[in-house]
Amino acid sequence: MGAVLLDGKSLSREIEDGLKIKVNELKKDGIEPHLAVILVGDDPASHVYVRNKENACKRTGIKSTKLILPVATSEEEVLQIIDEMNKNNDIHGILVQSPTPKHINELKITERIYPTKDVDGFHPWNLGKLVQGDMRGLIPCTPAGIMKLLNNAKINLVGKKVTVIGRSRIVGMPLSLMLAQKGIDATVTITHSRSKDIEKICMASDVIIAALGIPGFVKKEWIKDSSVIVDVGISRVIDTSTDRHKLVGDIEPSAIEKASYMTPVPGGVGPMTIAMLLTNTVKAAINN
Ligand code: GUN
Repeated sequence: MGAVLLDGKSLSREIEDGLKIKVNELKKDGIEPHLAVILVGDDPASHVYVRNKENACKRTGIKSTKLILPVATSEEEVLQIIDEMNKNNDIHGILVQSPTPKHINELKITERIYPTKDVDGFHPWNLGKLVQGDMRGLIPCTPAGIMKLLNNAKINLVGKKVTVIGRSRIVGMPLSLMLAQKGIDATVTITHSRSKDIEKICMASDVIIAALGIPGFVKKEWIKDSSVIVDVGISRVIDTSTDRHKLVGDIEPSAIEKASYMTPVPGGVGPMTIAMLLTNTVKAAINN
């Protein structure tokens, strides 16, 4: 049996089409949704991600401002820029691309952004809302995108055993909260680098969501027949057959032979993250 692909690219374009209409309406009311992205340093992958965000803003008519800062920029300088953006009523969303250089404390940065402009959904206020089961705050983008993909495919999670691999503040932790919330009702297991017997836990799971950033970590043999597989990993590796770079996920591609549904890499979770970022920016502009 081959899995049905959970096509994040096409769903994200549908979401963008809806946002484009909304953005046009807002502009008629004198509101131009505006996202400011700060990137410190020269990490090549981060530059690609930021460019993708910028292009998605263009497609939907959202104004974007990109601020590229040298790697030597101090934490205090970044905090001051955030303070200015917080005060600027024309800016609705602020995002500092992660990872930042080591001398910049990401938690400090996150806490400085006004919760109402925190389009990443990482501020303790927004995460606290999530713990309370209140989805009216700004929701972290990758988890929100995964929930949309599963919902769009009408995958019922009630009582299902869902294993999340990875406990990051960006994906694993908020996603686990969302899966366990009332109305979704999954039984969630959070696994991480110190978990024992991950393969056995996976074998007993109806849904596996891998977000740890290790190419091919989850093996085909770990997958129960007809399970649902969501791959959040996206690593650049050399393809030995062509000597060129390619993007690979955390799950062996051959898992597709056992799964009922599986996200492709690329074209699965990645575009959904961006669609949710745009959704949060429009939400922030409306709530402003
Ligand atoms: N780096 C990788 N994913 C993300 C994300 O969702 N937000 C930010 N700010 N940085 C990231």
